[in-house]
Amino acid sequence: MCGIVAVVGKNQAYKYVLEGLKRLEYRGYDSSGIAYFSEKKLNHVKSVGKLNKLIKKISLLDIEPLNKSSLAMGHTRWATHGKVDLNNTHPIISNNKVAVVHNGIIENYKFLKNNLLLDGYAFNSLTDTEVIPHMFYKYLKAGKSFLESGRLILKLLEGAFAFLAISNDNKNEIFVSRKTSPLVIGMGDGFHVVGSDAQSISHMVDKVIYLEDGDYALISDLEVKIFNEKDENVNRRTINVNIDHGLISKEGYRHFMEKEIFEQPSVLINTISSLINENNEIVLDLEKIGIQINKGITICAAGTSYYAAMVGKYWIEKLSGISVNVDLASEYRYRSPVTSSFSSMLVISQSGESIDTLMAMREGKKSNLKTCAIVNVDQSTIDREADHTIYTRVGPEIGVASTKSFTSQLIVLLMLALKLAKKLNKINMKQYLKFVDDIKVLPSTLSKILKLNDKVIDVSQKIKNAKNVLFLGRGNLYPIALEGALKLKEISYIHAEGFAAGEMKHGPIALIEEDLPVIMFLTSDGLEDKAISNLQEAISRGANTILISDKKCINKSQFFTSKIEIPSFDKDFNSIFAPIFMAIPAQLLAYHIARERGTDVDQPRNLAKSVTVE
Ligand code: AGP
Repeated sequence: MCGIVAVVGKNQAYKYVLEGLKRLEYRGYDSSGIAYFSEKKLNHVKSVGKLNKLIKKISLLDIEPLNKSSLAMGHTRWATHGKVDLNNTHPIISNNKVAVVHNGIIENYKFLKNNLLLDGYAFNSLTDTEVIPHMFYKYLKAGKSFLESGRLILKLLEGAFAFLAISNDNKNEIFVSRKTSPLVIGMGDGFHVVGSDAQSISHMVDKVIYLEDGDYALISDLEVKIFNEKDENVNRRTINVNIDHGLISKEGYRHFMEKEIFEQPSVLINTISSLINENNEIVLDLEKIGIQINKGITICAAGTSYYAAMVGKYWIEKLSGISVNVDLASEYRYRSPVTSSFSSMLVISQSGESIDTLMAMREGKKSNLKTCAIVNVDQSTIDREADHTIYTRVGPEIGVASTKSFTSQLIVLLMLALKLAKKLNKINMKQYLKFVDDIKVLPSTLSKILKLNDKVIDVSQKIKNAKNVLFLGRGNLYPIALEGALKLKEISYIHAEGFAAGEMKHGPIALIEEDLPVIMFLTSDGLEDKAISNLQEAISRGANTILISDKKCINKSQFFTSKIEIPSFDKDFNSIFAPIFMAIPAQLLAYHIARERGTDVDQPRNLAKSVTVE
């Protein structure tokens, strides 16, 4: 989703801004631009498409004045209002005097625009953003200061957003504001920077200030003045960021997604070791999470994180008997949920910035639920606002399609289920220790599963030209069917759907035709015969059926077109672990099909890594 980077007080500011925008590329965008002052004028360059197009355009400019320019502000745009074209690309300019870059949505922009049209302002873009530079221009012309203009504008704006403004009259200042969308200020020596996240500015600074919701600031080379929603001048805590300098590399893999799939065994060691101590205890603090054993837990999340939540419900209810409600975050906030039977809300988010999940968490807080976040990104908004956080610790995930964050979320949820089961005496010490031992060897089991790569490539060859694909699963593998379908559709653009196998005859079976790929995840959980019989109708109608299954049930039926056997990590294969194992072939399959089809695997069309608008 959109990204912002700005620098004030550093020569060659534009270069640092471009580097920062590169670091935000993973979020997804479809155009980019920068604004800067040179030779006393406000200038801007914009380009549609990837950043290298913008960089090329800039390289054709007169470099000397550009090098001398010590203020620059850049933006990567993910289109919401108005199509992808130069007019709608940020920075959005008013009367060659004010430039604005903006993330999020101004919900009342139509009303503001109508007023500005009546005042004689012309609109060159279809963006909601354009009302902001025009209002700045209007207030500055009326004699208001830059800060006062920004303050007045903020009183008029409704929505969730972050924006930066610069003006020709104030060539050493940036007006910065955030309401819901994240923004971080970097503290340099004789200069300051602003970015959408700490990673985007960590090549320039290692001390940052996170603006709080509703904060705005006036930033110059030597000063940062921050104000809260009540217009009080406030101090916010400066913290040290410990983020790898330099761009994260693909380390020889073709795509970040491929790297992130294959690094799961190594990074999941971090997740596991941070949650199991040397005495084999799971170090999750149930009190801090807000769990009361006579009350239920409600979980909110979006996309892949939501599917992790679905598996979590299955595990927590099965192992501990505590009731779990799972909601799509985007639905929760608007559905007037009854919360009296719950004590805590878990929110799951890789980025910690998904607006729907953040807003669901705020709803939970309003209903007096204790909130606990399972996030990957330290200091993300959800992390900072939750009452308690459990980190998945798998490092930056750059590919838009979630992979390692999904398996790490599953591991956290499984450990929570076990902790609860032990506390409620639903499992004995021997069973508990066996689970812990199995979790500890998960990374090496996942390494074995990744060796199925060639087998998955063979299967992907057979389905890469399909127009539709169905994924089926039962029990804790139903969410994996949904996740497999999401992964495939988002990066290969093949239409894919996931279904609970038992639902086939209630409708989806109408879709079955000769050669339609139907992929079934199956594990020995006692339901395998039922699941196979659910598929019999598809087999007899000529579907191209692919079975992904453990050793015990791989030979349950000889009628499958292809089979992928998941290696068990010991004799007593425990089907509880099946979702974690089966996620790997689902990820590999989507990856290889997309790669074969030549799509932009890491930044698929129309998608963003952190969805920070509703
Ligand atoms: C996953 O592959 C997707 N790109 C998407 O569904 C994602 O999981 C969702 O947007 C939630 O993101 P979050 O975990 O960062 O909140």
